[in-house]
Amino acid sequence: MKGRVGKALPFPFRAGGNPIQTVHRLEPLRQSIAGLRAGGRSIALVPTMGALHEGHLTLVRAAALAADHVIVSIFVNPTQFGPNEDLDAYPRRIAEDSRLLESEGVALLWAPTVEEVYPSGYATNVSVSGVSDEFCGAARPGHFDGVATVVCKLFNQVQPDVAMFGEKDWQQLAVIRRMARDLDLTRPHADAIVGVPTVREADGLAMSSRNQYLSIEHRAAAVALPQAMRAAVTAIESGAPVKAALDSLVTRLLAAGFGPVDYAGLADAASLEPLDQRPQSRPARLLVAARIGTTRLIDNMSVTPAG
Ligand code: PAJ
Repeated sequence: MKGRVGKALPFPFRAGGNPIQTVHRLEPLRQSIAGLRAGGRSIALVPTMGALHEGHLTLVRAAALAADHVIVSIFVNPTQFGPNEDLDAYPRRIAEDSRLLESEGVALLWAPTVEEVYPSGYATNVSVSGVSDEFCGAARPGHFDGVATVVCKLFNQVQPDVAMFGEKDWQQLAVIRRMARDLDLTRPHADAIVGVPTVREADGLAMSSRNQYLSIEHRAAAVALPQAMRAAVTAIESGAPVKAALDSLVTRLLAAGFGPVDYAGLADAASLEPLDQRPQSRPARLLVAARIGTTRLIDNMSVTPAG
């Protein structure tokens, strides 16, 4: 998809590289994109809510390999937060994020205001049934409608050739792929929605903007999540009954100091249909959401088919 070689190198080698443009309104966004598109250049979009960490930056680097220019969006989307969730407390660090993105050679930061995305009179909702129904969809009613709606809008605003999403949010990735397929999107096409493997801390905890909410004690205990999940994957892949593996996963999490476990389940990797047995031929996914203190952590791992 890339049309040329010799891209800007990361700091400190990118002396002479272009400074990042930050745009908050749609009209200047369209003008900037027209400039970036000159000569038939391609664009990759990385949608985020900011408070960027190495997981996000891995998506940015994958985007830079996939297209000539990278656009990152930062928008803390109110419609995907429930009434008792952390919308107001969600970390906002746009100046620091912008510096990080500039050092990665990102061309444009799209940071729309809430009024630009949801102007007065806004009335449309994108709802993807089936794949949204279980797991985070059941635990957070309305969450995936908010995600699908804002991502559909970001796709229409930027019209990227390719868009990157983290496997960290496996169900979200499946919902967006389903939406792109069902709505016949062309920019990006469903096949140009790229899933990037989860980036983890050295001890295995999946990186998340919410990890910073954890106390030192809870951060230490949180490692039980990937450890218990890895053990459950190994047990299921060795032929243990799924229910027994899930029960012992939950027991291990509670023993480590996790509070309620929102869900721990096995699902078809694409449709997210819950499974009570390891499938013979289709890839599956182990998905968990659990609270430690007031922080809700999610993670998922692949389970290979038996056949
Ligand atoms: P946010 O949580 O900021 O995540 C932005 C992107 O980074 C998502 O695609 C997410 O899966 C990915 N990501 C986060 N942590 C990661 C990790 N440890 N490894 C790999 N990728 C990781 O997800 C959202 O924002 C929003 O729902 C959004 C899609 C932007 C819509 O508002």
